[in-house]
Amino acid sequence: MISCQVMARHYTVFPLAIALLVTGCSTAPPKTEAPKRALTFPLERTAARLERGKYLVNNVVGCFMCHSQVDWNSAETPIMEGTMGGGSIFPLEGLPGRLVASNISPDPDTGAGKWSDEDFFRAMTQGLGKDGRKLFDMMPFRKLRALADEDLASMIVYVRSIPPVKYELPKTELDPVVLGAPPLPPRQDIPTVDTSDPVKLGAYLANASDCAGCHTPSTPDGVPIPGLDFAGGFVLVGPWGKVASANITPDPSGISYYDEATFLNVIRTGHLAKGGRKINNIMPWRFFRGMTDTDLKAVFAYLKSLAPVSHRVDNTEKPTRCKKCGVEHGLGHMNEANAKK
Ligand code: HEC
Ligand code: HEC
Repeated sequence: MISCQVMARHYTVFPLAIALLVTGCSTAPPKTEAPKRALTFPLERTAARLERGKYLVNNVVGCFMCHSQVDWNSAETPIMEGTMGGGSIFPLEGLPGRLVASNISPDPDTGAGKWSDEDFFRAMTQGLGKDGRKLFDMMPFRKLRALADEDLASMIVYVRSIPPVKYELPKTELDPVVLGAPPLPPRQDIPTVDTSDPVKLGAYLANASDCAGCHTPSTPDGVPIPGLDFAGGFVLVGPWGKVASANITPDPSGISYYDEATFLNVIRTGHLAKGGRKINNIMPWRFFRGMTDTDLKAVFAYLKSLAPVSHRVDNTEKPTRCKKCGVEHGLGHMNEANAKK
């Protein structure tokens, strides 16, 4: 079999662009430039990778928001001491079974101490567990798959450097129906970060943070509803209470009134711009607040570039049925059904 190697080039992370490049390449490997799929395993532990990895893990992706125990009874909802990376039984209600975010700390017996860097890379880019199982899609491998090699390498190097947590967890047990499609094939593309354009950088970061995962409402089968990208109304129920995500598109029913400073202030303080109410901590602002000004501004530039979607959502109002997204949330009755063709 001849594999079609993609020459390392500076292109955006958008699947369409990648698809175009992949179909456009010839079966012969490029002669002059070696492909920049330069990750050599085991990954080299460099100071730069540790630093970048720490930033991405703790402030952009928020791996430990899932892979640790969170004290939901405390107002600050901190990660409980000594549990960082040690995994948790995920307390999201409405799941068809038991969902366990694995112990990914370097403990050799109960964690990932004996796993290889490649095991991590496969889990993060293909949705393949250490034992070969398909990982449930809450593990954001579809998003992480679009990250640059160097960013993935940095996160792996950092996660494997944290203190080990001895914590034995049961296995995930979910109805196979909800597991959906099989794991993805290995990556062929080499996404890069385009830092020259704030909107593109923002798109890259928003993908890594999976803003859409919570802010785009989905059908009962978990399929994002077309036309409601980032329009909110996705309801999360757990020890944090019952809360619908907000419409973060630049529509009057969304955050059209935000400017850059408002956005930075909301993310940094965890308080809404309108009314000053504290934001429910299931919104990972405590992780995102550590993002650099440049990165947060880029995320905002990206949100500003989104198509405005009219969808009123307000968690201070009594939940009512919404014709637009199909669930009950505050101000649901104020929304019209989507125009059908
Ligand atoms: C939104 C929650 C969430 C986030 C964020 C998240 N994960 Fe996961 N992850 C999970 C869950 C849940 C599983 C287990 C899925 C299953 O068992 O089907 C998992 C599985 C894994 C596995 C496979 C473990 C095994 O048992 O084989 C690895 C490795 C992993 N995650 C690493 C990471 C890293 C590194 C990050 C950050 C870059 C991250 N995860 C971010 C929820 C999350
Ligand atoms: C785990 C789910 C989740 C993720 C991931 C998430 N959010 Fe949220 N977000 C929420 C929820 C829920 C609310 C509403 C909280 C409330 O009303 O108390 C919210 C509220 C907000 C608000 C306040 C909107 C307003 O009405 O003023 C902003 C801004 C926001 N999110 C931006 C983002 C951005 C940007 C990202 C990605 C970098 C993101 N969110 C990722 C769940 C999430």
